[in-house]
Amino acid sequence: MNSKIVFFDTTLRDGEQSPGVSLNIKQKIEIGKAIAELGIDVIEAGFPITSPGDFESVQTIAREVKGATIAALARANQKDIEVAWEAIKPAERPRIHTFIATSDIHLKYKLKKSREEVLELAKQAVSFARSLCPDVEFSAEDATRSNRDFLAQVVLEVVKAGATTINIPDTVGYTIPQEYYDLIKFLIENLKANGYESALKKGDLRISVHCHNDLGLAVANSLSAILAGATQVEGTINGIGERAGNAALEEIIMTLKTRADFFKEKLGYEPLVNINTKKIIPVSQLVSQHTGMLVQPNKAIVGANAFAHESGIHQHGVLCERSTYEIIDPKEIGWTGSAIVLGKHSGRHAISFKLESLGWKLSKEMLDKVFEKYRSEVKDILRKVDDAYLEGIVLDLLLER
Ligand code: KIV
Ligand code: ZN
Repeated sequence: MNSKIVFFDTTLRDGEQSPGVSLNIKQKIEIGKAIAELGIDVIEAGFPITSPGDFESVQTIAREVKGATIAALARANQKDIEVAWEAIKPAERPRIHTFIATSDIHLKYKLKKSREEVLELAKQAVSFARSLCPDVEFSAEDATRSNRDFLAQVVLEVVKAGATTINIPDTVGYTIPQEYYDLIKFLIENLKANGYESALKKGDLRISVHCHNDLGLAVANSLSAILAGATQVEGTINGIGERAGNAALEEIIMTLKTRADFFKEKLGYEPLVNINTKKIIPVSQLVSQHTGMLVQPNKAIVGANAFAHESGIHQHGVLCERSTYEIIDPKEIGWTGSAIVLGKHSGRHAISFKLESLGWKLSKEMLDKVFEKYRSEVKDILRKVDDAYLEGIVLDLLLER
């Protein structure tokens, strides 16, 4: 059994499709290199047919970013695939990623094609891509709103045509965890029944998942799909992407690591996560800086408050033993440590800890006075209390003497 989870990052393609985001080539290369250093297996560098600029940035990434497979997106037609191949050819390990929608709603209003025509286009695209590149991913766009039997037929036929990774996107963030689990299980069972069990086990054929966050379920759906047997997971750094974004890769990575016990129990093996987690914060900050998309403070893992404690009970707990209120060591993901934030809920332990870390060695009597004054002054303050304010209280008391 190949227990490796393949991480596929589309920050530079789906992520760049976030409203208002436009990255220049230098920024894309910097992000691409940082993502490769994080240990991500596949980096989708862009959609080369869309413009000469996109072509150039994908080609430059293919030349300069080492250590990861470099993928380029192409619609299911010969021209797109040729251009994608031309752009990624110089990569150490290139991948052509071709897609076509399979839902009736897309077929009727967007493609204006029948199911038979779409099936034919999908097969042709995959076999043409395979004639150029040994690594071909096929995506059934809007898979979660597609007819299941038709989707299973498309999946089986593109596998026969040579696709090595089959992606089942939740393009509009519509599915929910149990439903997505059932869909992925159904598709895997169908492939097994058609002779692909061993390829799936060895990891020569992978089912991939790609979730959007319209209902806030992208990460939950991705994890549910992994429990159903998916072995590639797609997403972006900080969860950026079209509309409400894509699944946040850092959340998936840290869930798989933090709850490895649960995944092992359910799957019968521990999913292998080869990620250099200490690079998560640097890469998150780089993406935020280059895209101009701020990370919300309470965002899991990478938000400024993710390891910050404000209330007295929590601060006391964390100062005695970190694991009382933290399930991850923040240093493991590149933070300098937990943050004790002073506010109106903070208690004595936190004030004393903060003052000590600022170099103040106060007597018990003085500390009592500081705490009393602090409590009376900050009880109506709703925002954070900074170090200078706290030191000001100490200085006022010392000068009163
Ligand atoms: O969301 C989606 O369906 C996509 C595909 C192109 C993979 O981004
Ligand atoms: Zn997408």
